[in-house]
Amino acid sequence: MASRTAIGLDIGTSGVRAAELSFGKAGITLERFGQVPLPEGCVVDGEVVDTEAVAAAIKRLWAHTKFTGKDVVIGVANGKVIVRQVDLPWMPAEDLQRSLPFQVQEFIPIPVEEAVLDFVTVEEFETEQGGRTLRGLLVAASRDMVMSAVKAVQAAGLTPATVDLTPFALLRALGDPSPLAAAGPEAVVDIGSRVTNIVVHEGGVPRFVRILLMGGADITEAVADRLGVPVEQAETLKQSVVYGDGSADEEMARSAVSLMDASSQQFVDEVRGSLDYYLASTGSESLSRLVVTGGGGRLVGLVQRLQEATRIPTEMGTPVSQLRVGKTGLTEDQIDFIEPLTAVPVGLALAVAP
Ligand SMILES: Nc1ncnc2c1ncn2[C@@H]1O[C@H](COP(=O)(O)OP(=O)(O)OP(=O)(O)O)[C@@H](O)[C@H]1O
Ligand SMILES: [Mg+2]
Repeated sequence: MASRTAIGLDIGTSGVRAAELSFGKAGITLERFGQVPLPEGCVVDGEVVDTEAVAAAIKRLWAHTKFTGKDVVIGVANGKVIVRQVDLPWMPAEDLQRSLPFQVQEFIPIPVEEAVLDFVTVEEFETEQGGRTLRGLLVAASRDMVMSAVKAVQAAGLTPATVDLTPFALLRALGDPSPLAAAGPEAVVDIGSRVTNIVVHEGGVPRFVRILLMGGADITEAVADRLGVPVEQAETLKQSVVYGDGSADEEMARSAVSLMDASSQQFVDEVRGSLDYYLASTGSESLSRLVVTGGGGRLVGLVQRLQEATRIPTEMGTPVSQLRVGKTGLTEDQIDFIEPLTAVPVGLALAVAP
């Protein structure tokens, strides 16, 4: 039985990374994963600004990891994507996409001609007047912004088969519906370098999306500020802090952790504010769980701080645990290390699952 494959390509601020999945009778297999760092300034606030440099990094990624295809799914998440809940008069799914340009101008701040539009239905209901209505998330992305990512991918010799909203990719990678549907809505939070994606979902159906332009790099800058050291030094320090590993001086470890806590305060407050906004606007009481992914989620103590601030049980997501692992050439330790970074590319690849 032939298995099909799909590749998700995540263009992040700190690097480009891709995952290749195969779909077979036995399930979904992670066949390959690779990553190539990007120099500062190529991707700014989630947008590709240096097409050539990004294309060069993608080329190196393909040369190095030997992906078997050239069709890729890419994601967008930045200040030029608007996601909001809107109600539209019911219509058959096949007509909906086509009708969007004529229906949604009032909801978005840019002319519809300059936007790529999508609508994800969340629920269907009847108004008091008896009108059948679709409630869903309207996604409007600046066409120019999407094109700058598309151009970088094409310049690397690849074909962007689909462009997806990164928060939706997270859901595919982590929104396993069965056990969660019973537990109520939960949030997935991907913490990157400059972009943090928050998606609240119920049983895999998205309810709320928030894209924050902040992440691990802002925490590094706060550390640098507090210590009066260069950003590179703050980054090294940030990544090397571990809870009592036995070798480090306890006292020093404690003060390093409290420095990280203080530096991540503003970030934690922003995430909590977004979730509070969701809860208040929907009248919901709480979320059942908060699942964290992304490199920024590795910061010492951050998962715990998010849990304390939100009072929601918080844990690191494990997107690879839902997959079989093929001959990736990676050791188990390496897979554990890269796992937080796989959520986005895996979820992107899942967008074209057969
Ligand atoms: N061990 C670690 N401890 C603390 N922070 C870490 C660690 N490893 C990585 N990071 C942080 O993770 C961030 C990068 O995460 P990630 O690779 O998910 O971002 P990105 O996808 O490249 O960027 P973005 O999504 O913002 O465009 C950096 O800010 C880096 O400092
Ligand atoms: Mg990212």
